[in-house]
Amino acid sequence: MPLTVVIADITTLATDAIVNAANETLLGGGGVDGAIHRAAGPALLAACRALPQVSLGVRCPTGKARITPGFALPTRWVIHTVGPVWHGGNRDEAALLANCYRNALRLAYEHDARRIAFPAISCGAYGYPAALAAAVAIATLREALADDPSLDIVLCCYSEPMRAVFQHALNAA
Ligand code: APR
Repeated sequence: MPLTVVIADITTLATDAIVNAANETLLGGGGVDGAIHRAAGPALLAACRALPQVSLGVRCPTGKARITPGFALPTRWVIHTVGPVWHGGNRDEAALLANCYRNALRLAYEHDARRIAFPAISCGAYGYPAALAAAVAIATLREALADDPSLDIVLCCYSEPMRAVFQHALNAA
């Protein structure tokens, strides 16, 4: 199935790439970012720290993506992307979130990663309303699948409520 919604700890997925919902420093944090760094081991932080800063303290601007190996994780690659913080919807949040999915897929393509798992980017600490984020994610991923049906994309939710929101968005698309 090219696009599925599951409940899982993304750090357990033995796939080609998992996507990290990071912050612009790429130096770790809480949520899925913290889980990925804990499971990958310290080599992941070292690899992130080695990535160039595009401005003071910023290694990955919001909406962009960077790639590192997965190290101790069962995945080959970790694609770090930075979702928008929700400010009510009038600061280009939807476009920035769509860019996260698009830019992550571009890096996956460049690294021949066909099986990719995404968390619910921006739906935790960054406060993006889940139903709105799910609609952006599904629309963007379906566009990518139309161009490349060989992709195998998993939307990896961490709770039943979140799974239900993303599954509803997928069914409605
Ligand atoms: N596997 C899958 N999903 C997870 C996991 C996990 N192990 N842990 C948390 N999640 C889910 C959360 O429940 C939420 O639905 O990932 C989604 C995204 O939440 P956050 O991790 O808080 O990410 P985000 O909202 O994008 O905020 C990013 O939080 O951790 C910091 O450094 C990070 O500053 C950045 C900010």
